[in-house]
Amino acid sequence: MDLWQMVLTDHANIVELCREVLRATGGGPNDRAGLFEELDVELERHFRAEERAIHPALARDDRTRSYLTELGQERQEIRRRMDELAGRPDVNGRDWAQDFKQLAGMISHAFTLEEGGVMTLARTIIEPHELDTMRIAYEREKIASIEARRWHMPQAMMPSRYGASTGMVFGILAGVAAVGTAALLWSQTRQRASSNRPLRPIRRRRAGASPATCARGAGAGSRGPSAAPSWPRSGPIRPTGRCASCSRCRAPTGPS
Ligand SMILES: [Fe+2]
Repeated sequence: MDLWQMVLTDHANIVELCREVLRATGGGPNDRAGLFEELDVELERHFRAEERAIHPALARDDRTRSYLTELGQERQEIRRRMDELAGRPDVNGRDWAQDFKQLAGMISHAFTLEEGGVMTLARTIIEPHELDTMRIAYEREKIASIEARRWHMPQAMMPSRYGASTGMVFGILAGVAAVGTAALLWSQTRQRASSNRPLRPIRRRRAGASPATCARGAGAGSRGPSAAPSWPRSGPIRPTGRCASCSRCRAPTGPS
C-alpha cells in the first residue's frame, strides 16, 4: 500500500465512522458518545499524520503550497466544530445530530477536495523515493499516536515515531531501572550491615615498642606505602626492630 492509498483508506474509514455516529442510538456498546469520541481520535490522528509527514513536502513546491492554506482553514473549522459538539450534553438529541450531520458533510467535502486537488498534483511532483520516505513517516506518526494513547504519554515521546520499537526501548528502560534499583538496595543493605557491626577495641601499642618494620620484612611481606622500602639502599640491610607487619620475616628482633 503506497502513501496515497493509505490516505484514501483513512478518509474512507473516517467517513464511514461519521455515518455510524449518525446511525447510533443512545445506549448499548456502540453508543453515539463513544463513537463520536472514536471519530475525534481517528480524525485528529489522520490530520496530524498528514501535517507532519506530507505537508512539509507540499510546502516546498509553489504548485502545492497554495492548497495548504485552504486545507489548514478547513481543518481549523472542523476541529472547532468537533470541540463544540464534544462539549454539548445533548449528544443523543435531534439538534446535536443535525449539527453533526453538517459537520460530517464538511469533513467529507474536505476529503474530496484534498483527493481531487492537492493529492492529484502531489502525485506528479513528488519523487518515488521521497514518497516512500513520506509513507514511512506517515505510518510512524499513526503508530506513535496509537501507542501514546495506550501508554498515556505524549506522542512525541513514543520511540515508534522515530523508527524504534516501543516495546524494545521500554523493555531496555525497565531493565536499566531494575538494575539500578537492585544496586541501590544492595548498597543500602551493606550500609546497614556495617553500621550494625560491633565496634572493635583499638589495640594500643606498648610504650617503647618500635612500630617500624624490619628492612627485610618491608620488602617481603609488608603492605602499605609507609612500609615500602626505599631502593636503592646504600650499605648493608640492618634490622631495625621487631617486624610489625610481616609474618614471614625471621629477622633478629630488638633494636640494633
Ligand atoms: Fe486527508
